[in-house]
Amino acid sequence: MMRVAILVSGRGSNMEAILRVKEAGGLPNAEIALVLSDSADAPALEKAQKFGVKTVIVDPKPYRKKREGYDAAVLEVLRDNNIELIVLAGFMRLLSRVLIDAYPNRIINIHPALLPAFPGLHAQKQALDHGVKVSGCTVHIVDGDVDTGPIILQAVVPVLTDDTEETLSERILDYEHRLLPRALDLATSERLRVIGRRVIIDED
Ligand code: GRF
Repeated sequence: MMRVAILVSGRGSNMEAILRVKEAGGLPNAEIALVLSDSADAPALEKAQKFGVKTVIVDPKPYRKKREGYDAAVLEVLRDNNIELIVLAGFMRLLSRVLIDAYPNRIINIHPALLPAFPGLHAQKQALDHGVKVSGCTVHIVDGDVDTGPIILQAVVPVLTDDTEETLSERILDYEHRLLPRALDLATSERLRVIGRRVIIDED
């Protein structure tokens, strides 16, 4: 089994989706060993504890604006817990090379748009404002830039005429909750091969 850490900052619904799949007997090759948050107030922490998963808070305050210092503190926690793979599930911080280099092709992120469209914050609002007819979500490997890494899986979601940011976000979220556990299963079963920008999925 591969030891996995989920990094969160807030609500934690994607984290919960993973923990539910695991509880239901899925993700046979993943051990969710740790949930790490940059905020003590993250509702995700309580949810993780309900599933009996260890939680750790690494507070960014002492590191001020030094991303590398913060990431080194996170890395120490990950190493202490023998973490082999990282899932970013609503973790609201950019990662520095300290973490990227320590976990090459071993960090995955969920983004609520069809990358490379609408990277960064408020992706659903960006999609609505642009007037696209479909949007969706993307699970990708984290490569050190914002939402640029090789794409593992994507799901397409329609944008409806009367959508608001809220209704579109909700529709996309439903797909996020299916996509992220699937991508994690592929990653922990060693069924992903990264060739340049492409991620080849080895089918059973
Ligand atoms: C999700 O929309 C995810 O795609 C984005 O941040 C949000 C996190 O939601 N990266 P949650 O904390 O998983 O509920």
